[in-house]
Amino acid sequence: MPDDALLEIDDLCVAYDGSNALNGVSLRIGKGELICVVGANGAGKTSLIRSISGIVPSSRGSVRINGVEISRRPPWDICEMGIAQVAEGRQIFSALSVEDNLLIGGSLKRARHDLANTLDSVYQLFGRLRERRDQLAGTLSGGEQQMLAIGRAIMSKPEIVMFDEPSIGLSPALTDVMFGVVKSLNEQGITVLLVEQNVAKSLALSSRGYVLENGSVVLHGSSRDLVENPDVQRAYLGL
Ligand SMILES: Nc1ncnc2c1ncn2[C@@H]1O[C@H](COP(=O)(O)OP(=O)(O)O)[C@@H](O)[C@H]1O
Ligand SMILES: [Mg+2]
Repeated sequence: MPDDALLEIDDLCVAYDGSNALNGVSLRIGKGELICVVGANGAGKTSLIRSISGIVPSSRGSVRINGVEISRRPPWDICEMGIAQVAEGRQIFSALSVEDNLLIGGSLKRARHDLANTLDSVYQLFGRLRERRDQLAGTLSGGEQQMLAIGRAIMSKPEIVMFDEPSIGLSPALTDVMFGVVKSLNEQGITVLLVEQNVAKSLALSSRGYVLENGSVVLHGSSRDLVENPDVQRAYLGL
């Protein structure tokens, strides 16, 4: 990975009512990288993202962005530091219009100065959202809601976007569209942490990957090596 670490996580632990969901996870993401964390249902992927974003408190460990410790900061501070997430199940505001959802994403201090340009770039990326800017977000299709959740993350002018299973509930064709969007955001300079159960597609997209099992990283390496690893092939790729 590049020497220039954007996000550094060391020995991160998360527990719910005394039972551990993350047991000492360490990972590093370089500026500009697209990395994936893959694992089965219940492995701890969402807990990892929610702990980085400050929604779920960690019981131990450290999270740093650009060398600054953030593990005890509130979620809005963490957003201001350039960490955005596209949550599992989208979590858009159904009763607000498409555009109002996007403007909420742009309401951070780091994003406010450039709101009109950023909104335009989101509408360029997702023409569908421009056409439906006045429509209530709750009436969008599943794929459109996923686009809106991504658009809202872009509106915050993030350094890194964490995607929690962006392919969930989408058809194979829409999944490919969504992964294409993730790739193109990365090509525009946004660092990406992609969390997925779709191991084959995530490893095809990313340069490096981490395999999470029962709250621990059991393997990590270049995505090319992971695809060829017999344990990964057996457990996740059906080979
Ligand atoms: N809010 C919660 N309260 C109690 N247990 C939880 C909560 N959220 C997740 N867990 C548990 O933590 C473990 C990891 O869950 P999660 O992070 O959602 O995994 P994944 O996203 O990989 O499916 C699971 O055993 C799950 O049941
Ligand atoms: Mg999850």
